[in-house]
Amino acid sequence: MSGVTQADVLQALSTVQDPELRRDLVSLKMIKDIHISGSNVAFTVELTTPACPLIPQIKRDAENAVLALEGVESVDVTMGARVPEDKKIKDLAIKNIIAVGSGKGGVGKSTVAVNLAVALAQCGAKVGLLDADIYGPNVPMMMGVHALPPIPEGKGIQPAEAYGVKVMSIGFMVSEGQPLIWRGPMLHSAIQQFLKDVDWGELDYLIVDLPPGTGDVQLSLVQTVPLSGGVIVTTPQQVSFDDAARAVSMFNKMEVPVLGIVENMSYLELEDGSIRRLFGEGGGEHLAGMAGVPLLANIPIEERVREGGDRGTPVVVTDPKSRSAQVLIGLAMSVAARMSMINLE
Ligand SMILES: Nc1ncnc2c1ncn2[C@@H]1O[C@H](COP(=O)(O)OP(=O)(O)OP(=O)(O)O)[C@@H](O)[C@H]1O
Ligand SMILES: [Mg+2]
Repeated sequence: MSGVTQADVLQALSTVQDPELRRDLVSLKMIKDIHISGSNVAFTVELTTPACPLIPQIKRDAENAVLALEGVESVDVTMGARVPEDKKIKDLAIKNIIAVGSGKGGVGKSTVAVNLAVALAQCGAKVGLLDADIYGPNVPMMMGVHALPPIPEGKGIQPAEAYGVKVMSIGFMVSEGQPLIWRGPMLHSAIQQFLKDVDWGELDYLIVDLPPGTGDVQLSLVQTVPLSGGVIVTTPQQVSFDDAARAVSMFNKMEVPVLGIVENMSYLELEDGSIRRLFGEGGGEHLAGMAGVPLLANIPIEERVREGGDRGTPVVVTDPKSRSAQVLIGLAMSVAARMSMINLE
């Protein structure tokens, strides 16, 4: 008999941190199914985010912590994940709805929304992407999908699917080149339909690409969709700052937690390794400081990001080792972590 108890194992694991959530695995209630047999200890670590880049480290840390106990000779750790849900969302099998917004147009909202969705799906989360940009629904192009699949007998509207993400766009509802004139009530009912009548199945995250700006259209979207959190995209220069600050206020007013700020087009890395800040600097940091939320990422300007968007092949798929993709994957993990912390509070 080794004499090791469950309490010993939990004690040891309470020294191991989830590096993204910055809390220990025991107080986060992540340890399940502890089995002790002789000198072998087996247990499951159930993460609260699809934290795939961190899994090897957390697994190793947990293993080592328990192996250090006297009388333990082998440890079997099973890694799993269960994303906590936003309890405010009713009547939908969607755990979290996260909007990507901006004050100014063209700052990279859709690029962020698409890569965020795909990165989460690559990590094993169930993800949907709803393109609510009535002015320029770019998500179909950026995801390389151009039409919805046919509706099977007796079923609801099926979303398109690409890179493991279920995709729905306001762009599928109108013919290309047609001007979009949406009045308030029409938009409201279209969005209601997108949420209720589309066969999303169970989702951990639904990412919503909002139209740029903070006018009536954006406001009515934020009111119609039960948002769990918002991410604001901005660029380094002052002209985007004021607009982005208005976007933060809009979320605050609607009591949607702002998960953080993303500064896009932060810098260009030249071939000799030097860095040029084409659009100035400090905008993202300044806004995050003012809003009292984290700056979640500084995304560099890279040609492959633009190409990925134009070709419908997101950079996190085609070039996951590139700097931009690494930043976008890190962003996805931080967004998931911030969302989980809010839901666990
Ligand atoms: N980090 C980046 N590096 C290079 N190109 C980028 C980067 N981010 C975005 N782009 C490109 O900039 C253009 C605008 O980006 P995107 O469409 O994502 O912005 P947006 O905020 O959604 O715009 P809109 O307000 O029109 O919806 C796109 O061609 C995109 O590929
Ligand atoms: Mg866009």
